[in-house]
Amino acid sequence: MRAPLLALLLCACGSGGTVLPRNIPTPITWNKDVQPLVAARCRACHLPGGIAPISFETYAEGLKWKDAIRAAVETRRMPPYLAGPGCAEYVDDQRLTDAEIATFGRWVDQGAAEGDPSQVQPQVDVPDPGLSRVDLTLKMPEAFTPTQIPDEYRCFVLDWPKTTDSYAVGMQVVPGNTRVVHHVIAFVIPPEQVASVQALDDAEAGPGYTCFGGPGTSGQRTTWLGAWAPGGKGSMYPPDTGLEVKAGSKVVLQVHYNVSAAPAGERTDLTRIDVATAETVKRKAMLMLWANPDWISKKTMTIPAFAKDTRYSFAFDPTPYMGAITGGVIGSGMAFKVYSASLHQHLLGTSSKLEILRDNQPNECLLNVPRWDFHWQRSYGFKTPKVFRPGDRLNVECHWDNSAEAQPVLDGQKRVPREVNWGEGTDSEMCLGVLYISQ
Ligand code: HEC
Repeated sequence: MRAPLLALLLCACGSGGTVLPRNIPTPITWNKDVQPLVAARCRACHLPGGIAPISFETYAEGLKWKDAIRAAVETRRMPPYLAGPGCAEYVDDQRLTDAEIATFGRWVDQGAAEGDPSQVQPQVDVPDPGLSRVDLTLKMPEAFTPTQIPDEYRCFVLDWPKTTDSYAVGMQVVPGNTRVVHHVIAFVIPPEQVASVQALDDAEAGPGYTCFGGPGTSGQRTTWLGAWAPGGKGSMYPPDTGLEVKAGSKVVLQVHYNVSAAPAGERTDLTRIDVATAETVKRKAMLMLWANPDWISKKTMTIPAFAKDTRYSFAFDPTPYMGAITGGVIGSGMAFKVYSASLHQHLLGTSSKLEILRDNQPNECLLNVPRWDFHWQRSYGFKTPKVFRPGDRLNVECHWDNSAEAQPVLDGQKRVPREVNWGEGTDSEMCLGVLYISQ
């Protein structure tokens, strides 16, 4: 109870001890200060039955977890939001402000008081921007129950029902069972690749097939329709833009299941996606994947066993080739707009960064992930779209830790370090930038 004591001391040397000096902040309490923060910034996941294993609904729960809460916010592990500070301004920025972080710390320092019950704020669910309309709902063909412990990565092939070419202008993943669905990526599979994912699906018993990092169509051009991690919300794509989906395409939903928080018998999932579509859009957009082609085709991204910090980067100006890279969505030699960015590594990744390098001008940071976490992948939309001009270079940089301590636990066993290279599996790595772009 440091603050009341301080107030007493100050009163004693004030004007006769009768007037409370000003500038003494009222003590931080759960009801007045902490609970509203928790409701707004933590409750999306930390509620009974939510994705997080603990909930902070009551003062008693907050008190029980006070030190863990403080540590989680001070290290910025919570709320999970990988984009680091000082890079770009994003819509839907979920980072706590320094003042909010300090409130948690001061509450604990001052004795973690409950405060006046009449000051409790009503629980309001954070408004979900979501989709402004739903034109299509694509569901997993049948329910699936993950059996691998703790993690299972499974791909499901979903029909795209449109019989003419059209555009996706917004997407939302609706996880069927949030206790087991850890994250979801939706890929568009163009007609010419449908046979290869169908073959993967047919080769395995049960719904879907095993996959990791991508839909398993290695080396071929696949685009993301979108991704979901807990707490993530669906959204419309930037105004006037959309992703073309050809008639005859499929959508592959890659679902990462983690069953550790769900008792056996409560692990069945039926996830769906809702899509807003349009017949035409003003600006065709696309998700451009960015990596060094040599990493993929020549396997040059070698990460030696036991190396503590391996780094690769790739900077290049794609504008002369954009017509071919984007199938005509962006003209060669033209500037283009970048609306959002995401990064993708696998389990050994420690940090990564995407930026536009400019000659004679400051570089433009798009996304900096100082602490990579495979479980919290999402894309980060810019408040103002960035412009990439001919002569600029797009740079992606990644770091990995392949030491013994950093190995993931898979199937209950810590892996033994071995040389790792680019690939789709849990035992391989990637260093991929994904940008939502249009002319
Ligand atoms: C997007 C979902 C989400 C949000 C929002 C979120 N958490 Fe969490 N939190 C989790 C999940 C999932 C776990 C357990 C697994 C893990 O640590 O990743 C967790 C674990 C924790 C833990 C216990 C383990 C640890 O890592 O220390 C604490 C404490 C915690 N969160 C505090 C908070 C606080 C405080 C907030 C709000 C300021 C918050 N979380 C917001 C999902 C979330």
